[in-house]
This record gives sequence, structure tokens and C-alpha cells, in this order.
Amino acid sequence: MRKIRKAVFPVGGLGTRFLPATKTVPKEMLTIVDKPVIQYVVDEASEAGIEHLIFVTGRNKSVIEDYFDAQIELYSTLETRGKKKDLHHLQRIQPGPGTTSFTRQQEPLGLGHAVWCARELVGNEPFALLLPDMVMQASKGCLSEMIELYHETGGNIIAMQECDPQEVHKYGIVGKGHVVANGFKITEMVEKPEKGQTTSNFYINGRYILQPEIFRIIENQKYCLGNEIQLTDSMLDLARSEPFYGFHFKGKTFDCGSKRGFIEANVAFALSRDDIRDQITAPLAALLKETTTRN
Ligand code: G1P
Repeated sequence: MRKIRKAVFPVGGLGTRFLPATKTVPKEMLTIVDKPVIQYVVDEASEAGIEHLIFVTGRNKSVIEDYFDAQIELYSTLETRGKKKDLHHLQRIQPGPGTTSFTRQQEPLGLGHAVWCARELVGNEPFALLLPDMVMQASKGCLSEMIELYHETGGNIIAMQECDPQEVHKYGIVGKGHVVANGFKITEMVEKPEKGQTTSNFYINGRYILQPEIFRIIENQKYCLGNEIQLTDSMLDLARSEPFYGFHFKGKTFDCGSKRGFIEANVAFALSRDDIRDQITAPLAALLKETTTRN
């Protein structure tokens, strides 16, 4: 079985829901507490043993490339000022030389197309795909758990979670079949179903392990929903010739592409931090009480 060494991060989206901030700051660089959204997702990949990070960017996203570069001047200033803790932290999360690649999705033609743009960098091996809008909080990373399952099943794996049945139209929805190892066989996949199109409320939460055959399928894929190339359509096609499993992730997922998810993530991560929790619990409780009384 081939090891999952590479991870693809599609970071080309415009982030219009966060205007005006995203006029100049990519949505992936907005901070949850004190770390950019993208760092949380990269940390999850690193924890899972990913060795090479592939970013599919777009125009006005070069700050992401700068962010993952070494900041030699900053490091030496921190050293001179004796800020060892900050320096070590930055050095610890710094990707090594040659372990990042950047390519551009020249036009916003959908998730399937963004993934396809990474085909030359991925090459002929299975890879992980992490959608940076989805930030997870769990004692063990979602991708780590998926890779454990992959070691038992091989094939393709999609992480899934339950959503409010009223919200299935926002996501890719999968059907949960019989148990295989720590996962499930996938019975159906439908992208942003209309009412009545599915009975499942298991949504694709933005983490995938895919075989390289997906690229050839995307290449022949027709433009579909929203005049985009949907990854889900290509996965459906691939599922005809290769096994697809679902991993039921039990941690928390914050959809940071929405204001609600982004704000929730900020509060949840702040409350999970020993250095911040005590400072914010009382003011947060007071704010909530004030709001409830007012309304
Ligand atoms: C994409 C996928 C969808 C998935 C979702 C998770 O949709 O196409 O299957 O459920 O991400 O965030 P998008 O959010 O790009 O519309």
C-alpha cells in the first residue's frame, strides 16, 4: 500500500463572505485566536505524517506563500530580543526546504478543477485533500484517523459527519453503508442535494484520501452545478471502479467559510487554551447575559 505523503490545500477561493477583510487578506489568513485558519489545517496534515504540502492558490494569495517561507530577519530579531519561546514556536511550525509547492488555479472553475490543477505536483500516488474552510477540533486529528483507516482498507476515503437535515443543500452528502474496519462503505454521493433527493444527512466535511485516478476522471468531467467542475461528480465516477469508504469523524468541525463557524471557532479555540480561557470566560458570560436580557 502506498503511503500518503502529499496533501493538497485548495486556497484559491475569493472569500466574498468576509469582505471587506478579504479585499487584501486571503480568507485562509484570517486568524482564529492568533493563528491563521490555514495553519490549523496544515497542523492537522503534519500531525498525520504528511511530508509535502501543495497549495492551489489564485490571484492575490501570494501572502500564503510568504507565510510558509522562513522569515530570517524576524527570526534574528526575536533571537536578539531573547524571545526564545516565540522563535522556537515559529521554527517548529516552519515547513522544511522543498516541502511546499504552490500552483495557481487560473479561473474559479470549482473544487474538482482546483484539485486537478495539482495533478503534476501530486503525480501518480494517493494523496490527502484538506479544504481549509473546515477547521477541526479533536484530541486526534481527522486526517490521522483517516490514515489509520486507510492502512486497513486502502482505496478512497471521505470523512463525514451528521448535519441538520435542513442544511443538506449546503454540502456534499453521502450515504452510510455497512461497517468496514473503523469506517463504512459509501452507498451514495450527491453534491448539494435538493429537497427529497437524499435521505442521508451525512455531509462531506472537507477531508479526503484519494487515489490518483481521480485526475483522469476530473479531466473528462463535464461542467455541472453552478457551471463548475464538482469533485463529488468525479468521485462518483471513480466509485464505479474503486472502493470508497466513509470515516465518521466525531470531533468538532467549524465551517470557517461562514461568519458563524468562524466566530464559533474563535471562541472554541480560545476556551480550549490554558493561557486564554480564564481571561475570557467571565467577560464572555457577561456579554451573553447582557444580550439575552436585552432580547
Ligand atoms: C465543498 C464540497 C462539498 C463539501 C464542502 C465542505 O463545497 O464540494 O462536497 O461538503 O466543500 O465544506 P463548497 O463548500 O466548496 O461549496
